[in-house]
Amino acid sequence: MTDLFSKFDPLIEQRESLLSTGLTDPFNLVMERVESPTVAICNGRRTILLGTYNYMGMTFDPDVIAAGKQALDEYGSGTTGSRVLNGTYAGHKACEEALKTFYAMDHAMVFATGYQANLGIISTIAGKDDYIVLDIDSHASIYDGCALGNANIVPFRHNDVDALEKRLKRIPEGAGKLVVLEGVYSMLGDIAPLKEMVAVCKAAGAMVLVDEAHSMGFIGENGRGVAEAQGCIDDVDFIIGTFSKSVGTVGGFCVSNHPKFEILRLVCRPYVFTASLPPSVVATAATSIGKLMHGADKRAHLWQNSQKLHAGLKALGFTLGTDTPQSAIIAVIMPDLEKGAMMWEALLHEGLYVNLARPPATPANMTLLRCSLCAEHSAEQVDQILGMFEAAGRATGCIG
Ligand SMILES: Cc1ncc(COP(=O)(O)O)c(C=O)c1O
Repeated sequence: MTDLFSKFDPLIEQRESLLSTGLTDPFNLVMERVESPTVAICNGRRTILLGTYNYMGMTFDPDVIAAGKQALDEYGSGTTGSRVLNGTYAGHKACEEALKTFYAMDHAMVFATGYQANLGIISTIAGKDDYIVLDIDSHASIYDGCALGNANIVPFRHNDVDALEKRLKRIPEGAGKLVVLEGVYSMLGDIAPLKEMVAVCKAAGAMVLVDEAHSMGFIGENGRGVAEAQGCIDDVDFIIGTFSKSVGTVGGFCVSNHPKFEILRLVCRPYVFTASLPPSVVATAATSIGKLMHGADKRAHLWQNSQKLHAGLKALGFTLGTDTPQSAIIAVIMPDLEKGAMMWEALLHEGLYVNLARPPATPANMTLLRCSLCAEHSAEQVDQILGMFEAAGRATGCIG
């Protein structure tokens, strides 16, 4: 019998050799207690959280929590059904209304996760004979959506407008074309030149889908994302987003002005063939989205945090993923996985949690310490974070 697990042997060996040095497993940390969007207890120690996607700090918002509790009391713990059968409650419609208002768009469709939103929308609108042109650094859920729909996949070099244009020109005349882009790329925290890219797509007659998972709530005057900030949101056909980041719960969505959008509810398999989100989750999401519309002060503070952390880490001598702060994500580039894991552990001992990211999730085989800031981090916490990076960096030899 062929052991179907033998393909995992290299990964198992790499993991065992890393852990044999006595290192804490960076992919198995337990948050024993979570005190706030920025502080948790890990290994019995008070730890500043700098590796969550809680950009706007909504997880402990009193109105959000109250809405969730009320929905739990009034509607129960789950829907036990698909959106197209018994799983659409008033709360699901209210959540979709909140999204339509937030984005000023005609249609909104809520999924169980952002992963499923990409999987469902991409695979349903681009099928066997269609072409999907996508940035090579696209999120796994985008690639999986392309694979599920069986479309022809045409990747182009990360954030390269000319490469995108060239790929589009090579697609056979008359074929269906979907370009998939992201607002913020989550590994390095860099943003896409969406304005130029969307213009190129429109000139080529392609539809455009932008995943704004890491920009919703924070980037753009109203927090609608990079397409809003760059003034091209009206030319974007589909925006994908998630509730698992700035919204502070779980779920995914697609918003659009396409006149035939509603038919997707009947043909999109990752929407139809799964149970809908629990009432408490859609209630927290709708309340959070409503509050994010008025989050200008929080957005301004988050930008200050991002600028301060970026400048501070640069001054300490760390190599960063972007020259300037472009989002709430600041990636610190490590020389290799071993050094990255050592630095990750040293930071944890200092009382700081960041994300350790490694291939295949990262571009160009990089090992990264990904810092994601929250609007609830105080300026003092950012100072503390910089002190922790300095101490851990010197202890591990990552900085001189
Ligand atoms: C760009 C992007 N799209 C989609 C997702 C999936 O979101 P969710 O956590 O809601 O499944 C993620 C999650 O990290 C992401 O980074």
